[in-house]
Amino acid sequence: MTQLSGLLDTEAIRKDFPVLDRVVHDGKKLVYLDNAATSQKPRQVLDALNEYYERYNANVHRGVHVLAEEATALYEGARDKVAEFVNAPSRDEVIFTKNASESLNLVANMLGWADEPYRVDHETEIVITEMEHHSNIVPWQLLAQRTGAKLKWFGLTDDGRLDLSNIDEVITEKTKIVSFVLVSNILGTVNPVEAIVRRAQEVGALVCIDASQAAPHMPLDVQALQADFVAFTGHKMCAPTGIGVLWGRQELLEDLPPFLGGGEMIETVSMHSSTYAPAPHKFEAGTPPIAQAVGLGAAIDYLQAIGMEKILAHEHALTQYAVERLAQVPDLRIIGPTTAEDRGAAISFTLGDIHPHDVGQVLDEQGIAVRVGHHCARPVCLRYGIPATTRASFYLYSTPAEIDALVDGLEHVRNFFG
Ligand code: ALA
Repeated sequence: MTQLSGLLDTEAIRKDFPVLDRVVHDGKKLVYLDNAATSQKPRQVLDALNEYYERYNANVHRGVHVLAEEATALYEGARDKVAEFVNAPSRDEVIFTKNASESLNLVANMLGWADEPYRVDHETEIVITEMEHHSNIVPWQLLAQRTGAKLKWFGLTDDGRLDLSNIDEVITEKTKIVSFVLVSNILGTVNPVEAIVRRAQEVGALVCIDASQAAPHMPLDVQALQADFVAFTGHKMCAPTGIGVLWGRQELLEDLPPFLGGGEMIETVSMHSSTYAPAPHKFEAGTPPIAQAVGLGAAIDYLQAIGMEKILAHEHALTQYAVERLAQVPDLRIIGPTTAEDRGAAISFTLGDIHPHDVGQVLDEQGIAVRVGHHCARPVCLRYGIPATTRASFYLYSTPAEIDALVDGLEHVRNFFG
């Protein structure tokens, strides 16, 4: 195995992830390179989930009995862990949702029902980018359709970065909200937050950041980002599915209206009207994903015990190695930045004119799991004139040997298709 500096002790880490021992397709050892779609779960998280259901299961904020109080303490304890993980000034700024899509839809709907000064209407503009996941496009299209607001976006450069050359024309005095991805799930690009936030602040627009592909992989500091909202999901960072986070600035959460109505989010209800609980509960209608939040708390403990800086360094070394190795594969074109600088650990590529679905299938036969398709970011494929890509994405347990296996696998794909 190639020696690279900054790598984690993956031999030890991989012992925590039972699924990584799987053998698939007649004795092929699993090479899991689909981490941008979802991460695998360590025993510590699986144990926390089991323990929650075996010892504490109850509804939260509702009961006076022991289990209800303990379940509430665990659920709210998970909120504390998230707040600390993202350096939130207050735990009340952390809203639990079911995933990042719900978090982004929540922001769009808060603004959609808001009064001035936040109201989005036919005289205002919403700004996104061409590299967004569909979950950061469609909610804004829906909001624009409903309110008559104009939807604008930053285009992309040929090397997979945001084209900010016309930033003053895209973000204007009419802009109410700028919503963009921190790390692209398809291109891997890490975006220049500071320049966008500076311009948004100049015109008084709110900023929402989709950190789904950042939170699992690098230290995330919502205060340093200077955004107004930050969304991410648990399942990409070792937590179960069904738990997402929206962090929002406290005064905004106090001012903005709720989206979903129901139990838990109210202060009082009469047949004529209701008043609402303070944030974050105002935005958490109904029984929340309790076990999933506890699992997210355990995932945060796990990642922090290793260290987010160390995880970032590990993935950076792997990405550098992968970019170099993939460059040796004939006919392979990386879609996105071709250097390891300013990019995350998801690498999309095409291989000659072999359809990515065929690439993915032949890799799968060798035990190598990648994602193929438009990765819920179809405008990116349209921009680069391709129907789809093959995407390999790494995480804290990924190894250089797995990248070697991918490169060998791609040679096999090329031979297979002549
Ligand atoms: N958003 C996930 C991905 O990029 C599902 O694969």
